[in-house]
Amino acid sequence: MSVPFFKLSPCDEELDNVRQVLESGWLTTGKWAQQLEGLFADYCGVQHALAVNSCTAALHLGIEALGIGPGDKVLVPSLTFTASAEVIRYVGADPVFVDIDRDTLLLDPQVVDRTLEQTPGARAVVAVHFGGQSVALDGDAGLLAVCRKHNVKLVQDAAHAFPASDTYGPVGSVGDVTCFSFYANKTITSGEGGMLVTNDDEVAKRVKMMRLHGIDRDVWDRFTGTRASSWVYDVKAPGFKYNMPDLNAAIAVAQFHKAESFRQARQVIIQQYRQAFSDIPGLTLVQSRVKDEQHSHHLFPIVLNEKSPISRDDFISTLADRGVSTSVHYRPLHQMSYYREKYELDPQAFPNTEAYWQGCVSLPAYPAMSQESIDRVITEVTHLLTR
Ligand SMILES: Cc1ncc(COP(=O)(O)O)c(C=O)c1O
Repeated sequence: MSVPFFKLSPCDEELDNVRQVLESGWLTTGKWAQQLEGLFADYCGVQHALAVNSCTAALHLGIEALGIGPGDKVLVPSLTFTASAEVIRYVGADPVFVDIDRDTLLLDPQVVDRTLEQTPGARAVVAVHFGGQSVALDGDAGLLAVCRKHNVKLVQDAAHAFPASDTYGPVGSVGDVTCFSFYANKTITSGEGGMLVTNDDEVAKRVKMMRLHGIDRDVWDRFTGTRASSWVYDVKAPGFKYNMPDLNAAIAVAQFHKAESFRQARQVIIQQYRQAFSDIPGLTLVQSRVKDEQHSHHLFPIVLNEKSPISRDDFISTLADRGVSTSVHYRPLHQMSYYREKYELDPQAFPNTEAYWQGCVSLPAYPAMSQESIDRVITEVTHLLTR
């Protein structure tokens, strides 16, 4: 028996919804995308939810709508997927990479505070809810207060964090812009897809226009309107082609309704991992700053420390030989040649990210995982680290 890193759960409802879309004859953005937007706006308790074709598109549109551009600086953790930073370059601004907290792998608001003090021209912070737990946002020492103090915007990359919450409420309920991902192996999926949520009317207006060519009307509205003038539209800006087709939205709607049961299934798995691995000296577990019920448990990274009898790379390849697939999230951005060379980055400026990177391995944890597979991962990991 082999254990893949991710496997899709059965998709009966998704198939029903897709059939309805195909039979309706309307495949691009329409009532399913609108329904998905309504579900997210209600869930987050915000005024606006705008469906797009990826989280990357949502991040790009959010940053563009906040008016960030050439000469501006945006703080972003080095420990993230490249999408969180590339969107800053899309608008001609420059990323300022920040180290993470060693225990939680999240941005530390105090470190952000100090970095903002030393960064003239900073306009925003991209906070990544890494692995599925929220960055500390609320309270006097939280990231929201830090952003307010420095008059910068808070953009949240919540690609890992649906559904997730904290003392302030659901992820997406506070801050200027929050972006979710429905990529193939995320907590819910539509193959490709994303969602931007915001309470800012002006941001929402701009995103709505820029996600579809900078046209001042929705395609749905344009083709289904009964008014004689329904063919009339204007182009207000050279926008993008980032709208979410109904084919994808129909899948996402079915997945949305399963999101909490998926989250609970992942929680059951990671609780077994935690219990099994808590006494292995060569392995460090990532700490949670939120309650288990508030964590999306998208990833379960472990860190092989200096007491590990095997190197990280050998651990990964030996597990693969024994039929257990793992992954690595992520090689830090300060090491990637584009960012390293362009911004002359020194790894010593990121000691916590470096320490994590040396030993990190993400173990499989997905709702379709059988108990046999969970037991198998526990047995193999324990065997390799306690020899
Ligand atoms: C932290 C993070 N941000 C953004 C993205 C981009 O998401 P998408 O593939 O939906 O554009 C990902 C995807 O892996 C991610 O992990």
